[in-house]
Amino acid sequence: MTSPEPLIIFDTTLRDGEQSPGASMTRDEKVRIARALERLRVDVIEAGFPIASPGDFAAVKAVAEAVRDSTVCGLARALDADIDRAGEALRGANAARIHTFIATSPIHMEKKLRMTPAQVIEQAVHAVRRARQYTDDVEFSPEDAGRSEIDFLCRVLEAVIAAGARTVNIPDTVGYAVPHQFGRLIAQLRERIPNADLAVFSVHCHNDLGLAVANSLAAVRNGARQVECTINGLGERAGNAALEEIVMAVRTRQDHFQCDTRVDSTQIVNCSRLVSTITGFPVQPNKAIVGANAFAHESGIHQDGVLKHRETYEIMRAEEVGWTQNRMVLGKHSGRNAFRARLLELGISFATEEELNAAFSRFKDLADKKHEIFNEDLQALVTDATLDAANERVKLVSLRVCSETGETPRADLVLLCDGEEEPGTAIGSGPVDATFRAIESIVNSGTTLRLYSVNAITSGTDAQGEVTVRLEKGGQIVNGAGADTDIVIASAKAYLNAINKVLHPRARAHPQKGDV
Ligand code: KIV
Ligand code: ZN
Repeated sequence: MTSPEPLIIFDTTLRDGEQSPGASMTRDEKVRIARALERLRVDVIEAGFPIASPGDFAAVKAVAEAVRDSTVCGLARALDADIDRAGEALRGANAARIHTFIATSPIHMEKKLRMTPAQVIEQAVHAVRRARQYTDDVEFSPEDAGRSEIDFLCRVLEAVIAAGARTVNIPDTVGYAVPHQFGRLIAQLRERIPNADLAVFSVHCHNDLGLAVANSLAAVRNGARQVECTINGLGERAGNAALEEIVMAVRTRQDHFQCDTRVDSTQIVNCSRLVSTITGFPVQPNKAIVGANAFAHESGIHQDGVLKHRETYEIMRAEEVGWTQNRMVLGKHSGRNAFRARLLELGISFATEEELNAAFSRFKDLADKKHEIFNEDLQALVTDATLDAANERVKLVSLRVCSETGETPRADLVLLCDGEEEPGTAIGSGPVDATFRAIESIVNSGTTLRLYSVNAITSGTDAQGEVTVRLEKGGQIVNGAGADTDIVIASAKAYLNAINKVLHPRARAHPQKGDV
């Protein structure tokens, strides 16, 4: 048997994933996710779009300085200013890549760029040459390749490879492709471009028709050797190809794909949880690989089969992707070192001792209320503890809720607003509604609640509830997350987390819109 060819995993959770409405992340959150991605052993981490905002620049710079094992990449339009900014942000990286792009579809060139095809080629080549002044590792993407003319794509790609692009990425920007056709496109590009052997062919598929993973895998079958993907399939609109599905598909069906990644699959579930808690995007229970039900057998026939011989109904082991039995990991008597060591095993470290102390003190509070603390609890708690304190203008001081049969629920709370304690009271149709109204009686945010969801983090009635709240104001969407054994308190935390993001918006431009 021949050994599998390497498939490069390019993770864009921190860039395209962040373009998901409401998923914007702070610099420190990006660094935490980047560290988890490094432990997952992804090859390339696209950390952001440095020209988009000072915050994005700082985040890419911080990731570049924090990560040693994976290549760190910054996105840049095919413009000098973008490329210079990316080069600057990546200066501290051990291995840096600049990813530059320009649209090549007739509709984008004519209506958005207002450029001729010849001008597009010239700008693409110039951009690649400029990026090569910062690093040898330059990637070029013809944006909207899925709707571009193949003859033109061949011309652009041949020119950028000659100019020094070492990776050429074929994006299906609008999620229009279907697997058979997309696979054929990759095969034809590789056949027709004379210098194709000098570059790695990559794909970047969006999920508008639910085909992102299928299209990416069709491309792999036809010679693509890099896949751009995100944890949990997060991303612009319907998202990108889900990393966990790509990795496990090629690994489980190596007989078919004849390639494999260097990913440590046992880190997948941890990474998925971390991204979900930080962004406030819950994972649907039936999501492949990382959904809570992905390895749960309900039917008696299946259960019987699995007990007799696991492979009757299971094609992967739950442990292979990092599912563990709900294992009690820590308790009330665990000390700071055990806490720190356990978190390190989960890939979580702290930038400062204060952050560690804040998390440890929350852990002790939780251990008083909850007998057994699981990995999932630790992850939620750490996210709570590392909330961007500098940007937290409103905090919960205390909350009292009365909810009784036949009575209207009422919430009395005190918030700390810019250092001043302010009381608020409200009634509502339920305890959570009353709590949100009481918060609004103080902050008067002018937002509309778009989503409210509660998940139990672990099993048992003493489990922590993890609440996600999505608020909208003037077209801006933010997500907030909060966890607590008391779901009304978790709800208040999630609501305030979202409110703090509204009060401190992170202006962020979407690269595809060209409106930086
Ligand atoms: O979807 C897309 O086309 C992109 C490019 C910037 C690669 O995200
Ligand atoms: Zn994209």
